Amino acid sequence: MERVSTHLRTLASTLAAGTRLPSTRSLSADLGVGPVTVQRAVALLVAEGLVETRPGTGNFVTGSARRATPRDVAWQAEALGLTRPRVVDTTASGVRAPGADVIPLHWGYPLPELQPEGLVRTALSRAVRHPDALMPAPSSGHPLLRQLLAGELSARTPECDVTADDVLITSGAQSALVAAFRGLASPGDTVVMETPTFWGAIAAATEAGLQIVPVASGPRGLDPEALDRAMRTHGARLVYAQPTWANPTATVWDPTTRSAVLGLLEEHAAFLIEDDWARDLSLGDDHPLPLVCRDPHGHVVYVRSYTKGMSPSIRAAGLVARGPAMQRIRGSRWAADLYVSTVLQLAAAEILGSPGWRRHVGGLGRQLSVRRDALMTAISRHAPSAELTSVPQGGLSLWLRLPEGADPATVAARCLQDGVAISPGDEWFPGEPSGPFVRLGYAAAPTEQFETAARTIGRHLPR
Ligand SMILES: Cc1ncc(COP(=O)(O)O)c(C=O)c1O
Repeated sequence: MERVSTHLRTLASTLAAGTRLPSTRSLSADLGVGPVTVQRAVALLVAEGLVETRPGTGNFVTGSARRATPRDVAWQAEALGLTRPRVVDTTASGVRAPGADVIPLHWGYPLPELQPEGLVRTALSRAVRHPDALMPAPSSGHPLLRQLLAGELSARTPECDVTADDVLITSGAQSALVAAFRGLASPGDTVVMETPTFWGAIAAATEAGLQIVPVASGPRGLDPEALDRAMRTHGARLVYAQPTWANPTATVWDPTTRSAVLGLLEEHAAFLIEDDWARDLSLGDDHPLPLVCRDPHGHVVYVRSYTKGMSPSIRAAGLVARGPAMQRIRGSRWAADLYVSTVLQLAAAEILGSPGWRRHVGGLGRQLSVRRDALMTAISRHAPSAELTSVPQGGLSLWLRLPEGADPATVAARCLQDGVAISPGDEWFPGEPSGPFVRLGYAAAPTEQFETAARTIGRHLPR
């Protein structure tokens, strides 16, 4: 798509304001791509303010002052060599910071009022006074933080065999995913992923040169039979999944699925990267046991994020792995960034060890459930044709199926034009999307804006 949008940007920069762009059909014939790719590229230009869509008439150059002079980066194609099957899309909605006058339903980072601001500031100022503060941290992580993560897991059940030695501290869960994909597989290997899934995991696996085998996830989680088939067919020894409050669907694997998948990992001598990104984001009393607690033999590589519940500014996450797998993952992390900031690790440990932390997590769940309900109500009132796939019991967002015929990218681009940012579902599928979906977050915008946002979304959906 990047090639098409670059072409259109260049074209738009040479045309006078108000000029009509060639039709989708003629652009797709000229550029040798499908109409959907052209529509997505046009939607991007609409989002950038370079082009406007007049319903029933076509797409027109706006003459916006924001039009960029196209850069000539054609030389990079040869310099970079062989293309990969997929290119990481750095223009995806999840990485676009919200503008001041936009309602950010696309954004994953909770508002400051949902963060434990006092705890974080106090912890940071205590951390800088710690004797270790100005020293490099051990490459595996500061012992205090490693101990706290191991303690959190082993406190869940006596069978949970995780010690501080099994923990590696990384700069956020994203960095743990990159290290895990690189450490556990080689370029060209296959990795099975639930679909849809977190775009950051798709990007990390893609960057590691892996081929993604998507397996659909249902209301009970990953279908063990489908997983078994996919692993056999593609010789996959690596699975990436989010068994608890998956982003974006909010699915929680049921107990039967959990047991069956653990059995399959043993049978196939395979690894599962268990991405526990939402551990602090339960909206009720349910706190499912992480799979790693039932796996004494090192099949599960567990990734624990603190970003959303604690602070986006404390870039410290934990990864649990055992045996040679840990050595490889540690090597990969080490090669990327040597170690994680000691001050941030100490601050995270300070927060986790403080009595206010548990209180904060409980209160956060209650606030998030009020927000979830408010957004659900607003959507059912103003955008009833968008169907909620399930009522999330954890996490930060709703996953909605749009009516057939709606193009999520176009809907998102039109909403953005009207000041509402949403995340088009296509970004969350490692392969072809199974339908038109959007993801709406309820943590990053003031609740007073939900009605306006829902009205805008409703206006841009087919009736
Ligand atoms: C499912 C999932 N995994 C991992 C991450 C990355 O977490 P972190 O912010 O700790 O790097 C995110 C962030 O949104 C996520 O949604």
